[in-house]
Amino acid sequence: MSIFSCNQIHKSYQTGCLKHTRKKALTDVSFQVKQREVFGIIGLNGAGKSTILKIFMAFVKPDKGTVSINDQPVASKGSHQSIGYLPEHPSLYPHLSIKEHLQFGCRVAGLSAQEEKKRIQTALETVDLTEVAKMPIRGFSKGMTQRAALAYTILLKPEILILDEPMSGLDPLGRQLVLDIIQEYHDRGATILFCSHILTDVERICDRIGIMHQGQLVSVVTADSLDKDYVSTSTKGSQTPLEHYFLNTVRTEIS
Ligand SMILES: Nc1ncnc2c1ncn2[C@@H]1O[C@H](COP(=O)(O)OP(=O)(O)O)[C@@H](O)[C@H]1O
Ligand SMILES: [Mg+2]
Repeated sequence: MSIFSCNQIHKSYQTGCLKHTRKKALTDVSFQVKQREVFGIIGLNGAGKSTILKIFMAFVKPDKGTVSINDQPVASKGSHQSIGYLPEHPSLYPHLSIKEHLQFGCRVAGLSAQEEKKRIQTALETVDLTEVAKMPIRGFSKGMTQRAALAYTILLKPEILILDEPMSGLDPLGRQLVLDIIQEYHDRGATILFCSHILTDVERICDRIGIMHQGQLVSVVTADSLDKDYVSTSTKGSQTPLEHYFLNTVRTEIS
């Protein structure tokens, strides 16, 4: 069963005042992500990664093509139950603490006071922000803000995660923490779709990886096949298998 499915998606954005001045962001993108899979999308800046995730979140409407989550069209009622989304630029309220944000999330979800307490405690511990739970977000570093946003994403223990550059702005400890969270959700049976340009992190946790280039999905590979291919073809000891494959793929597309 596919959790994420998109077929022949096209998307262009209006770039000026005139309606016909448009820039193509996605061209004919199709892929499926099965239940319990971790699917990573990689690509250069502007390749179209965030646009795909926003289309799955129904924040952006494709010009053409079909998109579904759990076999339901994305904008339909119930299609977004149990999804945790981490945006590329999380916007938290600077004058509120992470605890207040999480309280808000629990109350919107209608949780009991007891459940609220438990969920907040777990979320804070998971992202290692318990000690600064009451500090206004404006005092947070970039990495702390990213971890705070992630706490909000996982607050309701979603079965599906959509993460846009989850390692962005994090130091090595923070990156490891995010990798551990993704791994833990994977082990629990969650399905995860995320994008990143930190290739070493992507290859550590993904089952399959899609390479985007100039709005097109130019390749989808499994992590296992990547390793075998690398052993037989690589002459570049300084590159990881994914770096090697990614650079070759993108260079071929450019030439
Ligand atoms: N709201 C928007 N208006 C106009 N152009 C946009 C908008 N969002 C994205 N784009 C353009 O679409 C392309 C793909 O963007 P994006 O999906 O954000 O790429 P990525 O996440 O891979 O860096 C880029 O050329 C970007 O400039
Ligand atoms: Mg992006």
